[in-house]
Amino acid sequence: MSYFRSDIEAMEGYTPGYQPKGSGWVKLNTNENPYPPSPRVLKALRKAVSEDLRKYPGPMADAFREAAADVLGTSPDCILCGNGSDDLLNMAVRAFCEQGAPVAFPYPTYSLYVTLAQIQGARAVRVEFPQDYRLPPELAGTGAPLTILCNPNAPSGTMVCPEEVARLAENLDGVLIVDEAYAEFASANCLDLHRRMDNVIVMRTMSKSYSLAGLRFGYALASRALIRGLAKVKDSYNVDALAIAGATAAIRDQLYLQDNVERIRATRRHMRAALQDLGFECLPSETNFVLARPPEPFAAEALFQELFNRRILVRYFDEPRLDEWLRITVGSEKEVEALLNTLKEIIAAARTGDA
Ligand SMILES: Cc1ncc(COP(=O)(O)O)c(C=O)c1O
Repeated sequence: MSYFRSDIEAMEGYTPGYQPKGSGWVKLNTNENPYPPSPRVLKALRKAVSEDLRKYPGPMADAFREAAADVLGTSPDCILCGNGSDDLLNMAVRAFCEQGAPVAFPYPTYSLYVTLAQIQGARAVRVEFPQDYRLPPELAGTGAPLTILCNPNAPSGTMVCPEEVARLAENLDGVLIVDEAYAEFASANCLDLHRRMDNVIVMRTMSKSYSLAGLRFGYALASRALIRGLAKVKDSYNVDALAIAGATAAIRDQLYLQDNVERIRATRRHMRAALQDLGFECLPSETNFVLARPPEPFAAEALFQELFNRRILVRYFDEPRLDEWLRITVGSEKEVEALLNTLKEIIAAARTGDA
């Protein structure tokens, strides 16, 4: 007998990327930023530790909302903060989807969307991306109260242009979340849609481009009405005082962000070209990772394992559409060199073995 709801008993739960114990790993499996956050973050955290811990944090994280509104050219009332953008996605599924209601998204994508739908008792409607990861036209016709578009998409790294996203939003009856977890690495974004469309929520995270995955902070941008409604389902103090202080300092330091992002884009160009030289097929990437298919005769899973044995972690997904590919985070220049040298060794050893 189980104490759980039957659907919770039956579901698998979300599987996060592997976090290895000990040192000596080259960790290219969870799209973390290889560089530290802005020094201003550490300064703000020290101050918050000495001054802010005794009291509850501001329930709406107003310090961050004001800073982000300034930087992004919007109103603080159009911003809602979350304990990572996962928290905001969770709020949205709870706020918009009754039991049994569809939550639609193109697939393959960020697997948490399925988990959140399952927890809510909603129905995940996967609309398959075509091979080139363009927007599938059927996505506009599901009738779902909530559609989620990860853009740029994970784990493909590809992107749909803002004009097409706007057309999709126009054609939907329900709400469209544009999950922009990787937008700062991309050549365009959909930020503007939250100002002109009343059914669009743009979600951002501080985990990737701001190097703050451990702090847990994300934010949503939308009309005042959508933000007010979403705020009803949030935990009372969903972001803590240290996270508010750190995230506020980080978003104010746009010069640091730009330098960090430029460095990663340059490494991405190098890593993608070098992988192609080794015979990998690489999808175009607008993110801090590359989805790459190993050359014959290497199977993605076996290569994942060979790299793992040499303490290099990349991401392998054992599921349709993805099981021939590896998702590789753009690490530091040094980490990427280690990856490329190891791949060269593995490929050379296999060729010698063949001869
Ligand atoms: C597409 C996508 N959305 C959201 C998130 C969650 O970000 P956060 O760390 O802010 O919860 C991730 C993290 O990997 C992601 O890949």
